[in-house]
Amino acid sequence: MSWKRICASSDVPENTVKKFAVDDFNVIVVKSGEEFRVYPPMCPHMEESLDETAIIEGQTLTCSKHLWGWDVLTGQMQGLAERDLLSYETKCEDGDVMANIEAELLYEYGKEDDDDDDDFFD
Ligand code: FES
Repeated sequence: MSWKRICASSDVPENTVKKFAVDDFNVIVVKSGEEFRVYPPMCPHMEESLDETAIIEGQTLTCSKHLWGWDVLTGQMQGLAERDLLSYETKCEDGDVMANIEAELLYEYGKEDDDDDDDFFD
């Protein structure tokens, strides 16, 4: 594990979702109140980039594609969502947003759909 600088805290206005490159992959940073969180960039439902689809209202981050939602600070699912957000441990230090990154966090997609298709044609 190692702490990596993601961006300056001033790069992320409140209630916005911004994407940044770290090593050879991307993460998103969200800000709610004075708190920052670092998440993988993709929606856990389908491979949509949350920096383009997500809306933050109050304590909820919602993907506008199919309205899955999460607590913006914990990543716990709310409403229609069926999976929590994966998250990187986050801290703010000397005006920078830092994330504790061991490896890129990725969601698995399509397993249920593949199984359903196989069942249907058997
Ligand atoms: S792609 Fe985000 S909710 Fe469906």
